Amino acid sequence: MIDFHTHILPGIDDGSRDMDMTIRMLEAERDQGVSHICATPHFYAHRRSVEFFLERRNRALEDVRQELAKLPDLPLIIAGAEVYYFRGMERAELLPELCIEGTNLLLLEMPFEQWTDEMVKAVEYMIQRRGLSIVLAHVERYERFQKDKDTWNRILALPLTIQLNGESFIDAGSFLRPNKEHKLSLRLLAEHEDIILGSDCHNMSDRAPNLAKARAVIKKKQGIERLEKFDYYINKML
Ligand SMILES: [Fe+2]
Repeated sequence: MIDFHTHILPGIDDGSRDMDMTIRMLEAERDQGVSHICATPHFYAHRRSVEFFLERRNRALEDVRQELAKLPDLPLIIAGAEVYYFRGMERAELLPELCIEGTNLLLLEMPFEQWTDEMVKAVEYMIQRRGLSIVLAHVERYERFQKDKDTWNRILALPLTIQLNGESFIDAGSFLRPNKEHKLSLRLLAEHEDIILGSDCHNMSDRAPNLAKARAVIKKKQGIERLEKFDYYINKML
């Protein structure tokens, strides 16, 4: 099993605080049956350069890999980033460097506001002109900002991959897990084949690794075949 979206590298963003927390998160992932993890720390173009980000990420990754050499039963880590949308990104030269290691998969976080025509065109450009395979991070979290459904539909109609967060399947109806997001995630699962699941874990408390719980809900609602589809699809992509 693969966790595609995590903030598991220590001290690099608002995710894991230190190596101790990283190891505890990796143990939790292992206990849930996860064998590979994409480390996807936040990249914000307005805060730091790509070069600076990559240097820090690679150093943190190297530290974790040294620890993992002593703990061989923990999941393996694949380098990546969660890239927040920025104006003109479609032409940024270093975009391929932010893809998941060894692939052309770019995990893209869209703004939590009404999407615009400019954004649709940028995503389209990255797919068609840059040859990137776009994975839209936690799609269920944006819909409530999209009063203009046309733009939302145009982005989802592009040949891209939808990533859903595990939390949208768990404890639905609570303040932290609005029912709307839960229903949307289930609907997207039923309507789209190209879907990847990620925990988007940040810590061991309110945003802990949760794929086992999420998968149990999905299995109950849509059958084991849906889980097999996930695994087939993500293995093909990576
Ligand atoms: Fe994230």
